[in-house]
Amino acid sequence: MTDTLTPILTKFWDDPRSWTLETYLRHGGYRALDKALAMAPEEVLATVKDSSIRGRGGAGFPTGLKWSFMSPPDGGPRYLVVNADESEPGTCKDVPLMMANPHALLEGVLISSYAIGCEHAFIYLRGEVVHVYRRLLRAVEEARAAGHLGDDVHGTGRRLEITVHAGAGAYICGEETALLDSLEGRRGQPRLKPPFPGAAGLYARPTSVNNVESIASVPGIILNGSEWFKDMGTEKSTGFGIFSLSGHVTNPGQFEAPLGITMRELIELAGGIRSGHRLKFWTPGGSSTPIFTDEHLDIPLDFDSVAAAGSMLGTRALQVFDETVSVVRAVSRWTDFYAHESCGKCTPCREGTWWLRQIMTRIEHGQGTQHDIDTLLDVCDNIFGRSFCALGDAATTPITSALKYFRDEFEAGMHTPASVLFPPERSVVFAAADLKEPTGMVTA
Ligand SMILES: Cc1cc2nc3c(=O)[nH]c(=O)nc-3n(C[C@H](O)[C@H](O)[C@H](O)COP(=O)(O)O)c2cc1C
Ligand code: SF4
Repeated sequence: MTDTLTPILTKFWDDPRSWTLETYLRHGGYRALDKALAMAPEEVLATVKDSSIRGRGGAGFPTGLKWSFMSPPDGGPRYLVVNADESEPGTCKDVPLMMANPHALLEGVLISSYAIGCEHAFIYLRGEVVHVYRRLLRAVEEARAAGHLGDDVHGTGRRLEITVHAGAGAYICGEETALLDSLEGRRGQPRLKPPFPGAAGLYARPTSVNNVESIASVPGIILNGSEWFKDMGTEKSTGFGIFSLSGHVTNPGQFEAPLGITMRELIELAGGIRSGHRLKFWTPGGSSTPIFTDEHLDIPLDFDSVAAAGSMLGTRALQVFDETVSVVRAVSRWTDFYAHESCGKCTPCREGTWWLRQIMTRIEHGQGTQHDIDTLLDVCDNIFGRSFCALGDAATTPITSALKYFRDEFEAGMHTPASVLFPPERSVVFAAADLKEPTGMVTA
């Protein structure tokens, strides 16, 4: 078994009351902030840039470079906005991180704000996770009472306020410019770029939008140095990341490891594919990334290797499906999701996702027509690269990649329902008898 796990952000998730300030301080918390405040802001930015950390929100844009692209200070406000929307099917790293260790994010926000000259940062959270919202509010309260934020951060006279904002729950509000519109009180729809947020973002001021995990990784980089970070991962995908394994593995969960680890190693860490079954397909980074099969188990999970193999590292949401699962049914559920979440701003995605949904539903129910596969590919072609934002592209890649590897299952959808070919009850992870009543639930 691999010994390459690197528990850093996840190091004390198992501690009792891991989320409190007391626990965070016991593990060396807020020392990185002291170190950063003793450095010039430019030096902090240079350290993050030198670490070569690439954004953990999906696209992998270098974090330090993004900060350095912000318009130069002009005396007016500058903002850091943390993207905590996390709504992609399969993605589940930021929510557990904020639940188990919210102060890592807050310390990262403080240091990052200092580096970019921001005095008011925002954390934009999806509204459905009320428990995380409460936890973050409590952590902000604790940090303020202890002097880590407010009008006089660590007695330096520096000011930083953090506003935690709960959105109303829409996948599109994770797209950075839709997020900014939503935060400003408008309907969340993507903005035309340029101008990029670094020039005109929140309230038309220079803004950096960064993912939770990107920002939470900053304290470690400052405390231990950029070389420490670069010693992990690969040359072009430095550092560590949280890999979330879900689905048909024996022990699903979060595995924090250097970028470049393989799926084979991760499945081994998760106790293997569930007993008596074999891997059929998987997503390397959530539902928007083209699927992989058992041919791809040894591809290093770093940005470039995954892209070279025809997919994307995305959010490292590794959803595992064994041979009991109908690829048509899985793709059909994702297609429902994208059609539902399309914000309607542009025609290719608004209309196209509706058509994809009609056709996928037909095929799933064994009522596909002779031309449906060609029409699916044609509609995908008219959406991909022609939509206003990346949600449109994301709606097509599960379909095109599934057709590449499992075309026969789509062809079978011309005559046989997926539920006959792959009875859903064979795929359930928990037998009804194993489902325990949640603790604390009041029953009549
Ligand atoms: C439809 C859509 C949803 C997205 N959802 C998220 C999200 O929930 N969290 C996130 O960090 N980035 C999300 N992104 C990517 C953001 O637009 C942006 O690239 C990211 O927040 C930048 O952070 P990073 O540089 O730290 O990766 C989404 C993009 C799209 C197109
Ligand atoms: S691609 Fe879809 S989600 Fe993005 S702007 Fe167009 S309609 Fe909205």
